[in-house]
Amino acid sequence: MKNVGIILAAGRGKRMHSVVQKQYLLLQGKPVLYYSLKAFQECPFIDEIILVTGEEEISYCQEEIIRKFNLDKVKQIVPGGKERYHSVYEGLKAAGDCHLVFIHDGARPFVDQGILERTKEAAETYQACVAGMPVKDTIKLSDGHGTAVETPRRDLLWMIQTPQVFDCALIREAYRKLMESDGTLAVTDDAMVLESIEGKKVRLVEGSYRNIKITTPEDLLVAEAFLQ
Ligand code: CTP
Ligand code: MG
Repeated sequence: MKNVGIILAAGRGKRMHSVVQKQYLLLQGKPVLYYSLKAFQECPFIDEIILVTGEEEISYCQEEIIRKFNLDKVKQIVPGGKERYHSVYEGLKAAGDCHLVFIHDGARPFVDQGILERTKEAAETYQACVAGMPVKDTIKLSDGHGTAVETPRRDLLWMIQTPQVFDCALIREAYRKLMESDGTLAVTDDAMVLESIEGKKVRLVEGSYRNIKITTPEDLLVAEAFLQ
């Protein structure tokens, strides 16, 4: 069965405060979104890519990214939803039956073949894994009103990236249940859907400190520096 990449690009990018959505801003003359599509296109064990975008951006993506750069593994472009997990769900529906599904943020241009390889291997063994890296800073838990209430051991903390890679049937079922109970779980990544709904353990896989998500304006400076 095929392995499918779902690349998410249906967000509004509010924290970037730019006129053009962050996934379409240019890095070295090419849209941010191009870079992750290219990495997935070049990956030998990804058979098909589903791109999830805003309804109004479908034709731009088709003409100015997919056709222009000959990204022929992109088989479908589907409109996303209000929250990221709605967009993931649209991607999963479009994917149909498959073996592994690689869910990736279109705002992470620096995913590389090594990360894809490591997450594939872990997903084959554990059915569920996420890329991430050990945190560098000390992390404190706030009480929500500006006071630190806890300082978790730094050597146990990871910051989570994408890709998040799953057995297709497993993640599809978890998302189906999530959508049935829509609104009751604050979902910020795909692995937590499995953790909280299915009680499934998720394997942590080494990503890269370069695999940043373009979120705020200073991230663009870092990204340009990586590309130099
Ligand atoms: N995303 C999506 N559909 C949504 C929200 C987010 O496909 N409804 C995608 C974004 O396009 C991005 C990835 O999920 O590639 C990670 O989300 P995030 O960095 O939060 O992007 P935005 O939601 O666009 O940004 P912000 O939260 O600042 O508005
Ligand atoms: Mg967001």
